[in-house]
Amino acid sequence: MKYQRLYINIDHIATVRQARRGNSPDPVAGAMLCERAGADGITAHLREDRRHIQDDDIERLATSITTVFNLEMACTSEMLALAHRLRPHQVTLVPERREEITTEGGLDVSRDAGRIADGVARLNAAGIRTSLFIGPDRAAIDRSRDVGAAAIELHTGQYAHAPNDPATLRALRDASAHGASIGLSVHAGHGLTVENVRPVAAIPEIEELNIGHAVVSRAIFVGLAEAVRELRAAMDDARASA
Ligand code: PXP
Repeated sequence: MKYQRLYINIDHIATVRQARRGNSPDPVAGAMLCERAGADGITAHLREDRRHIQDDDIERLATSITTVFNLEMACTSEMLALAHRLRPHQVTLVPERREEITTEGGLDVSRDAGRIADGVARLNAAGIRTSLFIGPDRAAIDRSRDVGAAAIELHTGQYAHAPNDPATLRALRDASAHGASIGLSVHAGHGLTVENVRPVAAIPEIEELNIGHAVVSRAIFVGLAEAVRELRAAMDDARASA
């Protein structure tokens, strides 16, 4: 089966730093460690409320990452201007609500189609690959293709909350097959851990996983490099035995 990329989301290294508003731990140093441990790319989300990653982190990541940089952001003019200037390898557009604890749902591509289509067009024009974070929903997948995205990232939150409910995994499998069948690259992420990642990693169409919170949590006990290696091993094992 084709190799599946592992992108590590380093936001929560910054969450720990922001608890004291100091310099430590530095998410950029963390990104370098993740790369050395086998991450294929680094993901960071510059939120409107700057609750974890700060502007300076994004600037430093853009010049320090030696793999590829996946910038997660809301589709706003401020963020589009930033992406234009920094030219990350990929932008993943996500919805943002100030009161949420994390990115709780996917983009509503139908309701916001005009704004998202404009944003994707601007990113495409700058040569930036664009991915849309959406639920495993056929209509949202079709709309993502219509607005010109190269990729979709399927929100795995429902699966992560109920990994033993066969419907949650079936939804991801069906969505992945549908996305790939209409020419989209398929990514996935949210709430994935060493314990629950295997069935998702085994879905053949999924080319890339974005994993953050579980890696930073596990790193407290075993270190960041080991946490990345554990995930990589689980993904490789799942694909080898699928
Ligand atoms: N993908 C996207 C688009 C996200 O917004 C996030 C963080 O919410 C993740 C992946 C990673 O999720 P987690 O931190 O739960 O692994």
